[in-house]
Amino acid sequence: MNTVELIRKKRDGGRLTLDELKYLVTGAVSGTIPDYQITAFLMAVYFQGMDDHETADLTDVMAHSGAMNDLSDMPGYPVDKHSTGGVGDTTSLVLIPLLAAAGLTVAKLSGRALGHTGGTIDKLESIPGFRTDLSRAEFLGLVRKNGLALADHTADMVPADRILYELRDVTATVESLPLIVSSIMSKKIAGGAKGIVLDVKTGAGAFLPEIEESRELARALVAIGVKLGRRISALITDMSQPLGHMVGNALEVKEAIDTLKGDGPQDLEDLCCALGAELLVFSGQDPDRDQAKKQLHGLLLDGSALAKFRLLVEEQGGDVRVIDDPQILPQAREKIAITAPRSGIVSELNALAIGKAAGILGAGRMTMDDVIDPAVGIEVVRKIGDQVEIGETLAVLHVNDNANLPQAQEMVTAAYRIGDGPAAPPPLIHERIGE
Ligand code: URA
Ligand code: CA
Repeated sequence: MNTVELIRKKRDGGRLTLDELKYLVTGAVSGTIPDYQITAFLMAVYFQGMDDHETADLTDVMAHSGAMNDLSDMPGYPVDKHSTGGVGDTTSLVLIPLLAAAGLTVAKLSGRALGHTGGTIDKLESIPGFRTDLSRAEFLGLVRKNGLALADHTADMVPADRILYELRDVTATVESLPLIVSSIMSKKIAGGAKGIVLDVKTGAGAFLPEIEESRELARALVAIGVKLGRRISALITDMSQPLGHMVGNALEVKEAIDTLKGDGPQDLEDLCCALGAELLVFSGQDPDRDQAKKQLHGLLLDGSALAKFRLLVEEQGGDVRVIDDPQILPQAREKIAITAPRSGIVSELNALAIGKAAGILGAGRMTMDDVIDPAVGIEVVRKIGDQVEIGETLAVLHVNDNANLPQAQEMVTAAYRIGDGPAAPPPLIHERIGE
């Protein structure tokens, strides 16, 4: 095959075959095709797009570019969840043990993405001692024994995504639907789950804020999952305001523990149960989603999900005392309240502004070399629809370093709009996109 011919074919709007895509992706990974040709191909995809068939083929060859997990003989039905990312999105921390408590198998791989707050791995690493650098054998051994484990993506899995993403990042080709979809889904396919649920966020704090874009992404992700033989659905969920009350790494661990004790914020609990219900139905355990949701709420109330979380923390070297005494988690030096400038009803709480404020307090990383401060973040006390009196606390900043404090205070104050009229909280789940 000739690389120039393949670039030309894509440039002119042609559809590359599975073998042609395999040639390009394999060449990118082995280094036999130089970066300038791979980036020309990526730019051609950016302008010409790919239909679902071609995107599924690209996803498949990317997934097969490195090691893959085989979960076919695990005791429970293997499931996975992906979120397109939000502010204070604590769902994975709750959902992983909750699904395991329901008897499903959760072999969760996660990365250390850039963002205003850390990813699931960063959050769990705020538990003293918690380890995520598991070898494949150790990871799969824990999954088999306990039904759950969480590990950092090992370097040998989906190398194609790492290589293509690095090139996209510096050539203005990140924002391409088929490239985004193949990037996300190749990691899910390599992870080995049979049932996948996608949490596609929409609203100010989402990767794609407009509902039409969120819908298009959800549709494409589901279509590619189906083509590659998975049971899969997507919920388009609200990220106009933060989920739950906590934004920050240790703060979100505490919020997850509260939720696993049946004592968390209602929106977080309801979203976890709705996402989990999709997977319980795929597994065949529950005939319908309403029954599955009831079962999951029950597992939060009766301590089963919390017991699985304890097992996860213990088996991965974490200090399990945090579960009974969250004070052991890293605590910020100072707590600073943001108060209401007037009385009224909260009509807007901009998730992006809250996320950015948490980021500049040190909760996230903007480059891969940044070090996260697990203790800092923002507690969102009042949310859309809440009545407040002038001078009452809207939010609490958890601060260690005062350098960016005035800016963070300003951002959080500006994130709130307080009006006179009644304001309804946005719906938690906007749409469901099924197989
Ligand atoms: N998330 C990913 O994993 N890849 C993308 O390309 C975009 C978002
Ligand atoms: Ca939260």
